[in-house]
Amino acid sequence: MKAPLLLTTAIIAKKRDGQELTRDEIAFIVDGITHASIPDYQIASWAMAVLCRGMTTAETAALTDCMLDSGDRLRPATDRPRVDKHSTGGLGDKVSLILAPLLASIGLDVPMLSGRGLGITGGTLDKLESYEGFRADLSEDEIDQQLRSIGCVITGTTKQIAPADRKLYALRDATATVPSVGLITGSIMSKKLAATLNALVLDVKFGSGAFMQSIDQARELLSSLVATGKRMGVRTTALLSDMNQPLGEMVGNACEVNEAVEVLRGGGPNDVRELTLQLCAQLVASISDATNHNGDQHDVQSAYQRLADELDSGRPLERYREMITAQGGRFLDHLSLHPEHVVTASTAGWVAAVDGQAIGNTVISLKGGRARMGDPIDSKSGLKIIAKVGQEVAAGQPLAHVYAADGSERAVQSVRDAIQLSDSPVAPLTLMPPVEPN
Ligand code: URA
Repeated sequence: MKAPLLLTTAIIAKKRDGQELTRDEIAFIVDGITHASIPDYQIASWAMAVLCRGMTTAETAALTDCMLDSGDRLRPATDRPRVDKHSTGGLGDKVSLILAPLLASIGLDVPMLSGRGLGITGGTLDKLESYEGFRADLSEDEIDQQLRSIGCVITGTTKQIAPADRKLYALRDATATVPSVGLITGSIMSKKLAATLNALVLDVKFGSGAFMQSIDQARELLSSLVATGKRMGVRTTALLSDMNQPLGEMVGNACEVNEAVEVLRGGGPNDVRELTLQLCAQLVASISDATNHNGDQHDVQSAYQRLADELDSGRPLERYREMITAQGGRFLDHLSLHPEHVVTASTAGWVAAVDGQAIGNTVISLKGGRARMGDPIDSKSGLKIIAKVGQEVAAGQPLAHVYAADGSERAVQSVRDAIQLSDSPVAPLTLMPPVEPN
């Protein structure tokens, strides 16, 4: 049945005029999205009014609740604490692949519902599908079964989870209404909270390789996400991370899987290890805070040490291998990549910037990422960006490697152009700046 056109028009006009919508009005809109009883042009117009006028905390809360209620929630499979992480997406972000088995290895359940890559940031499911046979379409029963036996699962969001978001997101994407903090909060939190969690940690990224370009925008989104999680009874904490250069060295699907496995072996780039351990420590402290009522910085530090020791024990790697195998993947110690081509510095200097958009677009040009939903992925192509902001380099020194079947010459030139050199020293970046401004 079609929702009354005039009622929807009145709600859009109220928002357009800057008035706060009631919970019932938001529920009416979400119901109309879910049951296709409001035409797309009205939903798009409502989204534009929200983008221009913003949402109050109460409106954001109502939107998240209603989108969550538009679908199923996963039920707890065991009596272990259930935790998860959400990252707003950044170049080279392979943290989920390490975090899920590491937390499972210390006795937590991690029901991670992930997405695919679109645009410059990669998707965790695409990375895992670099393993031949890996399945990312587990049913709710299969998720439960795997949590009982292994403690972690990384799979796609099912059609029954937050269906209103699926429809609304597609319309926002087509109508330039994605960058609204309220709409982003409702979208992310309705999907994450459907996993019925005890604790959630958010990795909110900013910079040229991230969705939010400035630290101020990232802080605004962080506050909205954390407030919404807490209000919905989930222990929610967050870190900010700088994506003005890729995380780690590897960017691309099989490339990133190989780097994640190195970290699970106790090695790999320090920034990947550090961010993963800090995010895990937040979750462990949140859970112990729930039992001890004394969660503080000391809890985070002791959790960090325990997690670092666990990572070095080799047990999380074993858990990871079990997860890949349980989901049908053929685990290999090292996935093969396309032939390597070196990018060298044309002059001496200090690395001043690594343009994330340009690096991401190069990976897309090699088919390591998608320009459009549904585009095929070539998991063997990618980049290794060795140069880090602040590093001094000599002329001719390798800055990066390109892994490409063809089109390597253009890719080598684009990567060289994306790595900007300065003739005076440059300060290195701070990976995790303080959440609160100084
Ligand atoms: N990721 C989401 O899941 N939703 C948004 O709105 C933006 C990023």
